[in-house]
Amino acid sequence: MYAMTIPRPGGPEALVWAEVPDPVAGDGEVVVDVAATAVNRADLLQRQGFYDPPPGAPIYPGLECSGRIAAVGPGVTGWAVGDEVCALLAGGGYAQKVAVPFGQLLPVPKGVDMVSAAALPEVTSTVWSNVFMVAHLRPGETLLVHGGSSGIGTMAVQLGKAVGATVAVTAGSADKLAACRDLGAEVLINYREQDFAEMVSADVILDIMGAKYLDRNVDALAVNGRLVVIGLQGGVKGELNLGKLLTKRAAIAATSLRPRPLAEKAAIVAAVREHVWPLIEAGNVRPVIDRTLPIQDAAEAHRLVEGSGHVGKVLLTF
Ligand SMILES: NC(=O)c1ccc[n+]([C@@H]2O[C@H](COP(=O)([O-])OP(=O)(O)OC[C@H]3O[C@@H](n4cnc5c(N)ncnc54)[C@H](OP(=O)(O)O)[C@@H]3O)[C@@H](O)[C@H]2O)c1
Repeated sequence: MYAMTIPRPGGPEALVWAEVPDPVAGDGEVVVDVAATAVNRADLLQRQGFYDPPPGAPIYPGLECSGRIAAVGPGVTGWAVGDEVCALLAGGGYAQKVAVPFGQLLPVPKGVDMVSAAALPEVTSTVWSNVFMVAHLRPGETLLVHGGSSGIGTMAVQLGKAVGATVAVTAGSADKLAACRDLGAEVLINYREQDFAEMVSADVILDIMGAKYLDRNVDALAVNGRLVVIGLQGGVKGELNLGKLLTKRAAIAATSLRPRPLAEKAAIVAAVREHVWPLIEAGNVRPVIDRTLPIQDAAEAHRLVEGSGHVGKVLLTF
């Protein structure tokens, strides 16, 4: 098969389309013939040499895919050759075939085409596991989503809205804020011009900025608020005022999906199938896709995402 390899870390030109060995379906795995994958910010870090795949994971980038099952390994139940699926991956989506632990498979939801389904596994799993399984967002609460127009953000806005929360977002332009409003966000904050901590009191904050926003995130938390950090785009080391946290009886969590044990990922994917798939199939939540490019144009896709020229997901097709 062919895959987008990274012979030497570097800029987008470091991605090289090359012939590589086919994967085999190990114990508890299926092999998927990949129809599409999606660009995640983590792929940019892997390409630059800052984010190696966890041990045992496919070495090519790509944290999600859609496609058809081509082979089923021993110990797999509930899935068969020919099934149309999408999958959460620890790597390997930028390849014509990928081996996937069967607990990380999801059916292509009704009403979503096979290619578009590649936009779903990473964002639904990340948002559901953090906003709902960790931070327990409830109807009537306020959710603040930083980077509301990102792949993650566009799903967080929709899921927050779908469960009856008021959703606030930050984004860097009027166009991106308008896209968030169209998805259901009610409080629109341009982070280049406004201070979110003065504009919202949030029960739950989904943060992608880390250190840079830590103090102001604590300011923006309501009493009993929950801050979940999933991205460190603004640095890893910040100063935390525990006095403010204590007064608000607030909590901070930080998680990373990719290195989690298989059983934890399977539990998250099962929860996504139970809670998020019905919302998608009812048309209340949809994949937000900025554009779709052929896998051979992965470098162009990386430039686009690096420059934040997109809203939602950028897909790569095979
Ligand atoms: N921990 C996990 O398990 C996990 C899983 C998936 C993703 N993530 C993280 O989640 C984040 C989003 O991922 P993605 O793939 O959806 O990325 P993406 O689409 O490339 O989005 C990055 C976003 O960052 C926003 N941003 C940049 N500076 C900002 C600032 N000062 N304030 C608010 N927003 C700002 C950009 O908004 P503008 O364009 O408006 O500037 C853009 O929407 C990344 O940090 C990624 O590493 C974590």
